Amino acid sequence: MSTERADVQQIKDRIDIVAVISRYVTLTKAGSSYKGRCPFHKDDTPSFWVSPEKGLWHCFGCGAGGDVIGFVMKIESIPFVEAAERLATEAGLSFAAHKSDGSRDLLHEISIAVSRWYADNLVNSAPGRRGREYLVGRGYPEETWERFGLGYALPGWDHLRKRFSAKYGVKPLVDLGLLVRKDDGTNYDRFRDRVIFPILDLSGRPIAFGGRSFDGQPKYLNSPKTALFDKGNHLYGLSWARETMQKEGSAVLVEGYTDVISLHLAGITNAVGSMGTSLTQGQAHLLGRFVKEVVISYDRDTAGGMASLRGMQILRNHGLSVRVVRLPEGDDPDSLVRREGAERMHQLIDAAAAFHIFYIESLKERHNMASIAGKEAALEEARPFFQEIRSLPLRQEIATRLAELLDLPFDGLMRELARGRRQQRPEVGIEQEEHHWDPQQVILSLLLRGDVTWERVAALVSVEDFAPRYRPIVTEMAQTRGQVDPSSMTTFLDADSAREVSYLTLSEPLWSDVEKALQDALERLVELPEIENKLKDLRGKMENAERSGDRRHLDELQRAYSTLVAQRLSRRRRDGKKQAAGQR
Ligand code: UTP
Ligand code: MN
Repeated sequence: MSTERADVQQIKDRIDIVAVISRYVTLTKAGSSYKGRCPFHKDDTPSFWVSPEKGLWHCFGCGAGGDVIGFVMKIESIPFVEAAERLATEAGLSFAAHKSDGSRDLLHEISIAVSRWYADNLVNSAPGRRGREYLVGRGYPEETWERFGLGYALPGWDHLRKRFSAKYGVKPLVDLGLLVRKDDGTNYDRFRDRVIFPILDLSGRPIAFGGRSFDGQPKYLNSPKTALFDKGNHLYGLSWARETMQKEGSAVLVEGYTDVISLHLAGITNAVGSMGTSLTQGQAHLLGRFVKEVVISYDRDTAGGMASLRGMQILRNHGLSVRVVRLPEGDDPDSLVRREGAERMHQLIDAAAAFHIFYIESLKERHNMASIAGKEAALEEARPFFQEIRSLPLRQEIATRLAELLDLPFDGLMRELARGRRQQRPEVGIEQEEHHWDPQQVILSLLLRGDVTWERVAALVSVEDFAPRYRPIVTEMAQTRGQVDPSSMTTFLDADSAREVSYLTLSEPLWSDVEKALQDALERLVELPEIENKLKDLRGKMENAERSGDRRHLDELQRAYSTLVAQRLSRRRRDGKKQAAGQR
């Protein structure tokens, strides 16, 4: 999509979202919005909402959502350009999507030239010294730079523009996301003083870039969605990993750029990266073209999280078998392989647990199996997981292990899981989801609704405070200083992020007092994680003390640990009360 933001926005402005969706869904008016039965899942109660005012739709039953172009894409199963063209024609606009090979060729040519220039800056420029030292310090000596196409973006706002706009013009550079266009029509270089990791397509051509800062925010800046690149449909390192993946029938899936590079350097050449977001359908499809098995190697906190469990489920539903590596606490593949070597990483990959075993074991970590309440909670959590498993033998095995874990009779457990089946999503309405909102969601929702300004939030919170799934949204806000409305924002976001936007914008607000909601969310977002960090730190120290047999030190550490845990508990209670008080 090398069209400009303005072109796409014009389509959205002209098109009546209610009229378009009404061709597929019977909509009835409800306040300033419309509702109907969702066309994307079996919807017994109307959970599907359309807001003409915001230009967004969202299904609170199945979680699908986005803007009008996204709706047409999804319901007609057609790509972005086609959907945009159809709607443009309908609106009497000519949407000259640059899909002719000529202009794509040009974009490829520019990406290659820019990538070479970044590489040259790394090796030869004076400021590039910072990049050189950084990479060498991370264990990537000069011999490795070419293999991974590594580069460096010069500090300053207009080096790229000056170097390339004479030859190519400004427009394709904006289309590629290399220049960022400001409201006043001027442009500046997106990547400045960053180490550059080119993202290649299957044939090894650079199509997008990730840039790592040395200390600024955000840690990584990535190319936005462009005509050549959509994060959800690419995997970092695929062109390098493809051959080994096919030979071994297996891929190692990691999160980060450096995870991929370090694994490849260690000889684990079937590693690819999901680039931080939770795994998408597109990425699963891509993996399915080359392998039968995916070995997930995320850091421990991410791996057990619900977002990554969903990703694993997506892979399974693409017919892939999934195993999960258990990394030591605090490690990612990059740090592990560099500290303990390739052999250790190989061992961990060989020992990776089958998905369902990993999942059931992870239940044990989240719930206290010694208490009735803990068992109930585990059962509750396992129910939707169990229901999404399609293979009967696997369902059988999972139920057996669950019965063991919960110490319940198998038959009773099976009945219980089946009973839940009908009760699963009775009327998953807006009201029922409200209590699960975390502070990140509250803050984003306030921002998207325009209840608070970006500046207020930006003073206290940085992109890194948000989970990876929200970072594309936050980054987009940071870049536009919150000046962009939700519906035009979705144009430049991947499908998952667009869905988050429609959800957070269209959900019934949970608070009556905006100020209070903001304050509470900020406090919870910023302070609790600090306690978590300290706890993590202490756990490491306690392990060491235990190993060296230093009992007195260990006792001290344990006392400190309990104090912090108590503090965390009381904070959470306080937050819980405050939150309840802030809600209507
Ligand atoms: P991590 O935060 O785990 O960083 O993000 P990392 O890969 O370990 O980075 P290093 O080792 O500190 O350099 C994992 C991936 O998430 C994406 C990037 O693709 C990153 O590699 N990410 C992370 C972003 O896109 N933006 C960010 O601000 C942070
Ligand atoms: Mn890392």
